[in-house]
Amino acid sequence: VTAPPIEWVGDEGGVLRVLDQTLLPNEERRIDLSDVDAAIDAIRRLVVRGAPMIGVAGAYGVHLAVRSDPARDAAAFSSALDAAVSKVGSARPTAVNLKWAVDRVREAAASFRDVASMKRAVFDEAARILDEDRRACDAMASYGVALFRKKERVLTYCNSGALATAGVGTALGVVLEAAKKGLVERAYACETRPLLQGARLTMWELMRSGVDATLLCDNAVAELMRRGGVDRVLVGADRIAANGDAANKIGTFGVALAAAAHGVPFHVVAPLSTIDLETKTGADIPIEERGDDEVLAFRGARAAPEGAKAFCPAFDVTPAKLVASLVTDAGVVERPDEAKVRALFSKARA
Ligand code: MRU
Repeated sequence: VTAPPIEWVGDEGGVLRVLDQTLLPNEERRIDLSDVDAAIDAIRRLVVRGAPMIGVAGAYGVHLAVRSDPARDAAAFSSALDAAVSKVGSARPTAVNLKWAVDRVREAAASFRDVASMKRAVFDEAARILDEDRRACDAMASYGVALFRKKERVLTYCNSGALATAGVGTALGVVLEAAKKGLVERAYACETRPLLQGARLTMWELMRSGVDATLLCDNAVAELMRRGGVDRVLVGADRIAANGDAANKIGTFGVALAAAAHGVPFHVVAPLSTIDLETKTGADIPIEERGDDEVLAFRGARAAPEGAKAFCPAFDVTPAKLVASLVTDAGVVERPDEAKVRALFSKARA
């Protein structure tokens, strides 16, 4: 049994051990993060990535920031904790799981009055977030598998598997679970330029699981669909607005448009921790801009003339009207809209 791609090793004085995803699929190397700056750097460089996994790394990042804090009273510790929460919480802007996780850790500490208990609460809450995400993935996988009508040809984008979560994944978790049940004829992974999370990470996960997997470049999606090659699209999300608009890796919107043009059902699979009721619509979702080099070069080799300009949004927003259903850990919402999304939360809280 290989180690999970993210795990806490040891007691409160331990380390966050992560698989360095920048090196996959060529090298499987784990690194130990033992201070907050290392955790933030790992999140920014996409050593750890994927919305729920960023949340888990962020929660433990806050623990790393405050575990040796010299504060003697609750007030002083709370200000150190607030500073850590805002520093870690802003490492990447789009995946709301990060903000959600660091806020949860802060709230967990708020019910205690002594520093030792507050520190313990931060650590315990980070562990709880990891564990809950693992279980949320299992729930999404079982709801998602119920969508399959026959042995299907499914297409996915970016990476939303075990490398993006603390469990089996969101959309890719559904694909892997469906494959186990004999419901996947073939899985298509889109390359996902510029950083190839599909080619490097999704193909790695699919092939290790023995799924019949085929890689296509992002601009081949419409042609594959025109040939009738895709029965269903499943993607993850980094933030879902209250009205069901869903931000995911840049290029997802184009896949949704191609799916709509060919009558292929397009599903978004994400835990409740990715849904942000405070973000009203997709237009309010902050979209991360990454460095020009990610587009202008590939693995250090220049791909465009010296001095070229680049457009580098890391995410785009698929409008809710293109989403056949939203598969969450609390159930499935067909044709999502604000009333249905809010009702899902009320049901989950009840
Ligand atoms: O920039 P990344 O690799 O963190 O982007 C990840 C994605 O867009 C995933 O599809 C998303 O987080 C949902 S999967 C859990």
